Amino acid sequence: MKEQSNLCNIAVMVSGSGTNLQQVIDDTGSGKINGAVRLVITDRPDVYSVKRAENHGIPCFYVRKNPAKLLELFEEYNIELIVLAGYLSIVESEIVERYPGRIINIHPSLIPKFCGKGFYGIKVHEAVVAAGEKTSGATVHFVDSGIDTGPIIIQQTVPVYPEDTPEQLQKRVLEVEHKILSEAINKVITQWEKE
Ligand code: GRF
Repeated sequence: MKEQSNLCNIAVMVSGSGTNLQQVIDDTGSGKINGAVRLVITDRPDVYSVKRAENHGIPCFYVRKNPAKLLELFEEYNIELIVLAGYLSIVESEIVERYPGRIINIHPSLIPKFCGKGFYGIKVHEAVVAAGEKTSGATVHFVDSGIDTGPIIIQQTVPVYPEDTPEQLQKRVLEVEHKILSEAINKVITQWEKE
């Protein structure tokens, strides 16, 4: 197990149930990810992600439309990597400018398909099924000033079956999300260690 001080300080930003957050907590705890979740930020006060953070003694703050507060917390916890895991608010430009190349997002489609404004959560899978796609998947990408437009880090596909409901597809994609999010975090941390 690496020294606590050598671990990448990670903040995870959430808006919902937090299964991606849980995966990152589990994989940092097991050493699979060379980092530690030091901070959780939610833009919704009463979501299960809050409970997940509490279960692991991770400081969790409800912050909404307050970039100054976010910057203050990121400084206070020496955050080096910001992971958007089902975070539904737009990341303010102050944050993107202060942390260039240090913010990543997981999106439940094969970007550039089915992404951008209005494509989030189950809506993504409804659009994929309605379009009769044969393949879907998940993408982890760097966050820039656009919506779901930054450089792609990792993508993985899943099959879409003709009889699939959006919910069945969502479940299949979520399994891939959990896998590639940890892989992407390790990939960027390893890259920084080499620089
Ligand atoms: C996931 O599908 C993620 O890709 C999308 O929102 C959902 C979050 O799920 N952005 P969870 O809160 O991590 O369970």
